[in-house]
Amino acid sequence: MCGIIGYIGNKEKKEVVLDGLRELEYRGYDSAGISILSNDVLSTFKTTGKLINLEVKCKDFKSSGFGVAIGHTRWATHGKATEINAHPHFGEVSSVVHNGIIENFLDIKKQLESREKVFLSQTDTEVIVHLFEENLSICSNHIKAFKKTIDSLIGSYAILLITKSAPDKIFYAKNGSPLLIGSNGDEIYFASSSTPLIGLVDRVCYLEDGDVGYMDISSFDNLKNIQPMSGEKISSQKEGYRYFMEKEIYEQHKILKDTIRGRILDDSINLELPADFIDGINKVSICACGTSYHAGLSAKYLFEREAKIKTDVFIASEFRYAEPIIEKDSLFIVVSQSGETADTLEALKLANKNGLKTLAICNVDSSSIVREAKYYLLTRAGVEKGVASTKAFSSQVMLLWMLGIYMAQHKKTISNEKIKIQVDNISNSLEATKVNSCIHDKLKKLSKRYLHGHGFFFIGRDIFYPLALEGALKLKEISYLHAEGYPGGEMKHGPIALADSELFCVSLMPKHLLYDKIKNNTQELSARDATICIIAQEYNEVADDVVFIDKFDSYMEEFFAMMIVLQILALEIAIRLGNDVDMPRNLAKSVTVE
Ligand code: M6R
Repeated sequence: MCGIIGYIGNKEKKEVVLDGLRELEYRGYDSAGISILSNDVLSTFKTTGKLINLEVKCKDFKSSGFGVAIGHTRWATHGKATEINAHPHFGEVSSVVHNGIIENFLDIKKQLESREKVFLSQTDTEVIVHLFEENLSICSNHIKAFKKTIDSLIGSYAILLITKSAPDKIFYAKNGSPLLIGSNGDEIYFASSSTPLIGLVDRVCYLEDGDVGYMDISSFDNLKNIQPMSGEKISSQKEGYRYFMEKEIYEQHKILKDTIRGRILDDSINLELPADFIDGINKVSICACGTSYHAGLSAKYLFEREAKIKTDVFIASEFRYAEPIIEKDSLFIVVSQSGETADTLEALKLANKNGLKTLAICNVDSSSIVREAKYYLLTRAGVEKGVASTKAFSSQVMLLWMLGIYMAQHKKTISNEKIKIQVDNISNSLEATKVNSCIHDKLKKLSKRYLHGHGFFFIGRDIFYPLALEGALKLKEISYLHAEGYPGGEMKHGPIALADSELFCVSLMPKHLLYDKIKNNTQELSARDATICIIAQEYNEVADDVVFIDKFDSYMEEFFAMMIVLQILALEIAIRLGNDVDMPRNLAKSVTVE
């Protein structure tokens, strides 16, 4: 989603800001822009499309000496993805970038227009700069004018503003959208996530909601909660793969080793949680969005089956406003790859406010969700660049599975022998995620037969139902074909009405869980002429196409092997359709607005 960069210092500001924006590129955007203020000149460049367009547009621009600069990648919310709507938005002497949504912008806009302010864009953001300049003409100093402006805003925001009348400062405000400030002693950097700051600063401050202020070159030490920041910039490369998504599919068996590292001791599960963590917990609520929600839904089956603990799973955007009944003996788990998803973060805040024990399952250390949760476990999947989540999902399911066994150990709901079997299954599941080149080749060939038709049903039962949902989501996200995931048993309650020779059905048929049941459900679709592609260990006459997985002894191993097939199937179909697999249309990697 939208990304922000800010800089105060002597370097070539255009390059610094463009470099920062490049680090945020994978998160998804549809336009970009920069404003540079140096030697009393404020220059702004904006374009639609990729950053390369912006680079071309400002290729002849240079700024020497000290100055301040801001940059932005925009994912359109209010107003189309046009150049005019791209950030920065400017007034007479100031320029602003903003992540989030200003909910009362129409009221403010009306008032400003009634006082003859002229608006160029359709965005909510533009009100900020005009309101600031109006306040500046009334207030005695800049920070008073900026605070007065921020006080008028309702909504979520991370804002950077620069103005010719205070040429050495960047004004900032944060509420609900992430914003960091970093320093290396000589320069100040701002960013909406930590990635662009790695290797550039040695100290960082994660701003809190409600923080409003300004930075000049000497004011960093006045910030609260400054933390050290170490690490070298590791630029992710595709390493010979066609897309980051493909690379991330292939590296799952390696990263899952990291996910489980140190968490299995003496044939039992050992998580970085206090010994009394499970005491007094009688229920679990899991809250997440998208793929992370599918991981949460998978966990429900594992928690209830192994730990005998009642588990409810919520889509985070549906949780917040539903007046949920909060039970004090619940463990509230949020699952998030980025740790910045606005709906999930807000649900977590609500659970914290109600005094629940909260646990984040997250991939990004120091993310907003990790910092907000009372406890956290990291999935250790490494940076995921493909917008369509793959390795984040497998690491989430793996860690949640381990958490289920951990709870079962504490609640003594399964025997030591069964724990040992599960631990073995975990190790074998790592193997199951190794991509078999024959399967990949098969899927490459098969993909050409699945490009038409009016849609796809992905069906599965039990924990293979959330996997079916995830398979359908992957296909939808990158191929733009219509795909739905269903529990197999649900077909005859409505969806089967769509079955005809133009419908594709991908059926997940694990040998070790409800095989006959899903076979019957698949037959019902086959009988109505749908084209059936089964993913299974063995041939089955219901199939038009079969993608064989290796022989496994447990349904969880089959789960991970089938997950790989679904990810590659989506990838190959999308490639055949000529789509940008890593940055699919309309999608953002990190959804920081509700
Ligand atoms: O970062 P999160 O896990 O909180 O993100 C949640 C969803 O936005 C995310 O999983 C999304 O559905 C992905 N594009 C799935 O591929």
